[in-house]
Amino acid sequence: MRSSTVASVLVLMFSPIALAQSTVSVIWNSDYDTSSTGMNTTTCATVLDQSYPTFGAVPTFPYLAGASFVTDSNTTGCGTCWSLVSDVGRTTVVVINGAADGFVITEEAANDLTGHHQFLWYNVQANATQLDASVCGL
Ligand SMILES: *[C@@H]1O[C@H](CO)[C@@H](O)[C@H](O)[C@H]1NC(C)=O
Ligand SMILES: *[C@@H]1O[C@H](CO)[C@@H](O)[C@H](O)[C@H]1NC(C)=O
Ligand SMILES: *[C@@H]1O[C@H](CO)[C@@H](O)[C@H](O)[C@H]1NC(C)=O
Repeated sequence: MRSSTVASVLVLMFSPIALAQSTVSVIWNSDYDTSSTGMNTTTCATVLDQSYPTFGAVPTFPYLAGASFVTDSNTTGCGTCWSLVSDVGRTTVVVINGAADGFVITEEAANDLTGHHQFLWYNVQANATQLDASVCGL
């Protein structure tokens, strides 16, 4: 039992390295910090609205994001869990919407990604790595 627990922890630790990593530009938008906003206002509505009717219902709230790979015709990225790492900080977010470019994250997540300098750094480069959805409690 113990060794299988250790093994799965190791898989969790090392699988992000095995997965593709990409560099993305990240900006923040405090609209995503409003917990009462309906999921029905997002591109991910059809995928997420049933389980998470509002932003605040997502287990990682207020760590949410829009991402450019979510489009009207491709919502497979909805509800995915991502690690974002910059030179000065890191955060983990759940994708709930589309974005024009890269990732658009909550102010709260931007705080962590920029080492609490989000107001100084509007556009931050980060390494994005997809994590298992269970890491984000989904
Ligand atoms: C959108 O979701 C919100 C929050 O669940 C709800 O109050 C509102 O009635 C919904 N609007 C529509 C058009 O379904
Ligand atoms: C849909 O989005 C996923 C990422 O969520 C991507 O891997 C896939 O290539 C996209 N498919 C199309 C047809 O764009
Ligand atoms: C992003 O990944 C690249 C390639 O692995 C690495 O060289 C770079 O240092 C990483 N940047 C950060 C901020 O972790």
